Amino acid sequence: MIKASAPGKLYIAGEYAVLEPGHPAIVVALDQFITVSLQEAKEQGSISSRYSNGISIPWTRKNGKFYMDERENPFSYITKSLTVVEQFLQEQGQQLKYFDLTIQSELDNKDGRKYGLGSSGAVTIATIKAMLTFYKIDYTAELLYKLAAITHLALNSNGSFGDLAASSYEGWVAYSCFDRQWLLAEINNPNMTLTKLVKKTWPKLRIEPLEAPTDLRLLIGWTGSPASTTFLVDQVKDEQSDMNGFYKQFLKDSKDCVNQMITAFKEQNIDEIQKQIRTNRHLLKSLGHQSGVDIETTALSDLCSIAESFSGAAKSSGAGGGDCGIVLSKQQDEILPMMTLWREQGIVNLPLQVFKKTTIPTTPILLEDH
Ligand code: PMV
Ligand code: MG
Repeated sequence: MIKASAPGKLYIAGEYAVLEPGHPAIVVALDQFITVSLQEAKEQGSISSRYSNGISIPWTRKNGKFYMDERENPFSYITKSLTVVEQFLQEQGQQLKYFDLTIQSELDNKDGRKYGLGSSGAVTIATIKAMLTFYKIDYTAELLYKLAAITHLALNSNGSFGDLAASSYEGWVAYSCFDRQWLLAEINNPNMTLTKLVKKTWPKLRIEPLEAPTDLRLLIGWTGSPASTTFLVDQVKDEQSDMNGFYKQFLKDSKDCVNQMITAFKEQNIDEIQKQIRTNRHLLKSLGHQSGVDIETTALSDLCSIAESFSGAAKSSGAGGGDCGIVLSKQQDEILPMMTLWREQGIVNLPLQVFKKTTIPTTPILLEDH
């Protein structure tokens, strides 16, 4: 039996702007995981998880390609990952085998309510890891990220794939997205193979592990109300052209802000990191006002003002609209009174840590024109 895990993620800064290729965000991997167990099987395979109420859904191959009846498929991220990785393996002359997959997730709470920690990204990375391990293929974080990004692009994801960068590279990561049009054209190019494509330099892609100052503390507050990132991103995209130049300025300001934050990480300057968190909060709030999309909800706003009254730098995380807010503070800052006030407002502190395991090679991908 093979077991492979991938961590959940949280956005620290640069949200929405990161949807535009070449615009940076900072993301972290958290110590909550999705685990995929893989067991070799004989005549057909199966997949089971809570999404199928624990029932095993069978799969087979048609004309040498992965096949699951679409009407029975609650696992699009997993099945698309299998299709992409099987194509990659076939290009390398591997003999395909059958297997049963079981998925376990720590990324939702016990009532199945979502925290917004990126389960679609983590399940994709964990599935790809399990398969590459099964077929005894050595992998790097870059290979995991690229196969996962091809998978999510094939599913028409409207995201920036920053969740995939966090789940594959782990720790603190500076990220900006590749040029989507370029990748789509390469995928549709009949002379291109996945094997060649993952070895290419992807224009505008940047994935750079960052070292957090030892005295920097990340706190996570959960509002308890789930938000749909896909829906919020579509809403903001719909409003983009009506924002009269605001969006262009937002993109520029966010890029400047996050780049300064990245420099502050490299200089281990907590005050400057906190200053840029506050600037980024302000930018995202203006984006919310201009687009009419409720990014910093009342609960997130309460979470931030309470944290600020105890010297923490706080903002909404990710698409906002619910889910989580984050606070960056110093180790020596008192946090218990803040937690008490949070609790009174119905905000739950998620006691999670940034996760970094060092066994997968994580060579940075630097932006050439940066
Ligand atoms: O809500 P989350 O944690 O999935 O983050 C979404 C961040 C966005 O920039 C709004 C979208 C994206 O895919 O980058
Ligand atoms: Mg979210």
